[in-house]
Order: sequence, then C-alpha cells, then structure tokens
Amino acid sequence: MAFDPTCLNNNSIFVKILKMKFGTKVIHAGIKPDPSTGAIMTPIFQTSTYVQDAPGKHKGYEYARTQNPTRNTLEKNLAALENGKYGVCFSSGLAAMDAIIKLLKSGDEIIATNDLYGGSYRLLTTIFAQFGIKSKFISMDEAKSIEKHITKNTKLLWVETPTNPMLNIVDIAAICKVAKKNKVKVVVDNTFASPYLQTPLDLGADIVMHSGTKYLGGHSDVIHGCVITKSKAIADKLYFIQNAVGAVPGPQDCFLMLRGIKTLHLRVERSCDNAQKIAKFLKDHKKVSKVYYPGFKDHPNHKVAKKQMNHFGGMVSFDLKVNTQATANKILKNTKLFSLAESLGGVESLIGHPASMTHGSIPKADRLKVGLTDSLIRLSVGVEDVNDLIEDLAAALKKA
Ligand SMILES: Cc1ncc(COP(=O)(O)O)c(C=O)c1O
Repeated sequence: MAFDPTCLNNNSIFVKILKMKFGTKVIHAGIKPDPSTGAIMTPIFQTSTYVQDAPGKHKGYEYARTQNPTRNTLEKNLAALENGKYGVCFSSGLAAMDAIIKLLKSGDEIIATNDLYGGSYRLLTTIFAQFGIKSKFISMDEAKSIEKHITKNTKLLWVETPTNPMLNIVDIAAICKVAKKNKVKVVVDNTFASPYLQTPLDLGADIVMHSGTKYLGGHSDVIHGCVITKSKAIADKLYFIQNAVGAVPGPQDCFLMLRGIKTLHLRVERSCDNAQKIAKFLKDHKKVSKVYYPGFKDHPNHKVAKKQMNHFGGMVSFDLKVNTQATANKILKNTKLFSLAESLGGVESLIGHPASMTHGSIPKADRLKVGLTDSLIRLSVGVEDVNDLIEDLAAALKKA
C-alpha cells in the first residue's frame, strides 16, 4: 500500500475538522493518540527508514525523507488550521518559499509586495533570478494598481500581510479577485498574522506559507516552514518537490511545532492585547515620531485589517524624532525585557533594528522608498505582563 500524503482529503474527516472551533483544532485536528501505546502526545519517530515485509510490502512508510509519522501528523494539523486540505512541511520558512517558487519555470515572473521580509527578497533576487525567474516588487496597497504590472509571463503574486517591518496591510480578497481574472496564482506569507488572526485560503488565496519558526512554533526553539493549500494538483507537486529536493524538517522539530501550536490561540491573543497597549504608549511618547500599527484608526489600511483579521497582531514598529541609527542603538542596548534579536512570534518580547538586521540585504535606497529608515525599531511583543514591558521601553527611551 502506498502512503497517501493527501492529508485531509477524506471528506467526512475534513467536514468534521472544519466544524471545530480554532481553539479545538490546535489541540485535536489531525492528531490521534498513538495506536501502539495510547501515548496522547504524537511520538517522535526518530528513524531514517522502515522495515518492509517484502519489496514494496510495507506499512505506508518507506524512507523518512519521503514520509515520517510525526511530520505527517503536523501536516494534517497545519492544513486544518488554515482551512486547507493539504499541509507540506519544510526545514525552514525559506525552504518552504523555495519549494513554492520551484512550481515555476525559467521565463516565469513573480510580482511581490515591496516591503517583503529581507530573506524572501534575497531568495527571489539572488537565487531564482539566476535561473530566469524574474521578480518585480510593488506596493499592493491598491489591488487594482497591480493589474498594470501583470504580463503574459506573470505566474504568481507573492503577498505578505501584515508586511515586515512596515506593517502595511494588503487586501487579500481584492488581490485574489484581480489574480483570478488574470489567471495568476496568489501566495500569502501568513507568518506575521498566524492562522489564528487570518486564513487567506478563505479569502481566495491558492497557497499559504509560514515561517513556522515564528508564531506557530512560538517558543523560539525551532526553525520550520510549511505550505498549505486546498488544491490537490498543487499539493501533489509540492510533495514531489519536498521529496525530490529533500529540505524536510526532522521529527524532533515537528514534535516541537505540534507542542507549540497547542497554545497558539492563547499566545497570539495575549501578544495582540499587549501590542495594542504598547502601540498606544509609543504614540504618546515625545521621542517617537511615528508608530506603525494596523490597529490605529488612522493607519492607512485599518479598515482592511479590521475586515480580514481577528485582531491587529503582535508586531509594532516605530520611528524616532532623532532619525539616526545611533539614537536607535541607545534604545536597543538599554531594554532589559525586550531582547535584541532577529525573529519574532515567540513568548518572549524581542526588539530589532530592521535596517541593519532582518533587512540588511535590501539596498538602502530601496528600503528608504518604503519608509524603512535608519531609526526604525521593530518590536515583537510577547506574552509577558504588559506593565513590565511598557516600563522597560520607557526606561530605554529615557536614555535615548
Ligand atoms: C515573513 C517571513 N517570511 C519568511 C521568513 C523565513 O523563515 P525562516 O527564517 O524560518 O526560514 C521569515 C523569517 O523571519 C519571515 O519573517
């Protein structure tokens, strides 16, 4: 019997899982106690291969790059969280992105959000450009304005929303309408929102991807990536790429992802509540010139955020009145609870300087065009007590 990786394609299971509320899905969707022992937690199947009774006569598992039960359970769970049918896991978010772009061929074109995560930009401009896949980076604030950039070679629209680090919001449903009309597929990098806040497949996207390293894992202890889709045709190609290229996550990492996901709703809810209070504190601070936070009524895409997200996210970026890296550095050096580090979405609060850290690979002229200044600071707000977090920022701002 060949292993069937098509995760939630049994209609009765799919309908049952679809009916679960999000807080139930994170704990139960696609997850069953281990049949051999009753272990309630999915075992870590730390094996590279599986014994066969006779050539081709096996239990659905042949070799662990191709199939692993811990990974398969995680794939089912992720598919359910995004209201998709198929989940495909990778060893990092960028490996997940790499697999999606490998659905294209030389001569194809991608149109991407212009304030994209620096590593995604680098993958498109330095790796795939060499193989004849061109990328164009545009503002997606107005869905209609995208149409003029679409050519006969455009195959993918690559959307990040909220964007990193400017926290712009792209109207996913409006973009998907334009894409469908022009027969172009839409990928949404849902890392910043997490499926607790938004489910792009429900808004018409063809593919969702995550750096699972962030909110999904949630504990800053694992690097992971995943892709989710409703389309069997797309999923089959992705499973083929997953096996043929081999950028698969290990079973221990998949276990950590499954464990982290169980509290996704609780963590993201608290991060969002904390971020809202911190954004307000920063807005009222005399040394801060601008706060980027989609929950503010005067944020240019606030209405879209309200329509497509359940809350406004746990990320806040801000600019200083003294717009220099030296001033930003004084804050970055002086927080005690906000740790200076790349990444986001963990239980602990992080502070970062996108121009020199996550977005260091983007040319200065390009980053300034989207407002990514030398003093811009990005916060990933964790789940600590918000009063302590505000006190920490206030003390660091005093020294700036
Ligand atoms: C929005 C976004 N997409 C993709 C990635 C890449 O993910 P990973 O670091 O897991 O490869 C990141 C990493 O920071 C990210 O922030």
